Amino acid sequence: MADESPLHRPILDWYEANARELPWREPGCSPWLILVSEIMLQQTPVNRVLPIWREWAERWPTPADLADASPADVIRAWGRLGYPRRALRLHQAAQAIVERHNGSVPSDHAELLALPGIGSYTAAAVASFAFGQRHAVLDTNVRRVFARTVSGVEYPPPALTAAETRLATELLPEQKAHVWAVAVMELGALICTARSPKCAACPVSAQCAWRLAGSPPHTGPARKGQAWAGTDRQIRGALMAALRHSKEPLSQPQLVIEVPDSALRDPGQRSRCLAGLIEDGLVEPLPDERYQLPA
Ligand code: ADE
Repeated sequence: MADESPLHRPILDWYEANARELPWREPGCSPWLILVSEIMLQQTPVNRVLPIWREWAERWPTPADLADASPADVIRAWGRLGYPRRALRLHQAAQAIVERHNGSVPSDHAELLALPGIGSYTAAAVASFAFGQRHAVLDTNVRRVFARTVSGVEYPPPALTAAETRLATELLPEQKAHVWAVAVMELGALICTARSPKCAACPVSAQCAWRLAGSPPHTGPARKGQAWAGTDRQIRGALMAALRHSKEPLSQPQLVIEVPDSALRDPGQRSRCLAGLIEDGLVEPLPDERYQLPA
């Protein structure tokens, strides 16, 4: 029976004593601002999210407030969080919440999943953290904790598998599954970290399958690093930063000044990245061959 997993009590007790105080975990935090936090936190560390989340909470406290903003304002306010398509999707989600749900974030998992840009992770996270429901919430931290403690391997597979979802579902306690979800997440973020796990401080080290096997190193395919210098992601980021900081649309020669050839890996990289940003709806080309954030 799920309630009897020996992992539950130690991890829940550890969480109660060690959880970080984060504003989206406060009891009064609205489902909308919890949704905003989950989108921001997906590919970005907590310390970078905090100031931007606070600005958004102040400026757009409800879905209707964000739905009324222009895409350019939303992209500017996303600032340097990275992966700015998330900002546009959040804007579209806000509009869908206004249109389909009278401006209130739905609590139903399927209705959450049907919103633009909301995948199964975010739907489960919002249903759990905003509405106290019982769902397996599988982010990279949670997957790593289960890979180690239960499966006895250092890292989870590169992409989420059905077996992982099944295991996480079996491990859900009957009561307070939403607290369990955030507790496992926090253990993965603070103790069972990717590169240097603090096993001495872990509440379940004595029963961790990976530790008990002698902490064998990862044997699968090399894991993707977060390479950055010279990548399309960096060039896209530099182009977006130039457009965010400019009050006027920018011409091609101005973009060359902002993102010089010396920053590129190959001569076509700047125009390829610009085309990708236009394709993604993050940049708008004007008839006079200048470029701006989408109006
Ligand atoms: N608390 C709730 N969800 C979280 C997340 N995705 N990252 C960090 N803390 C969280």
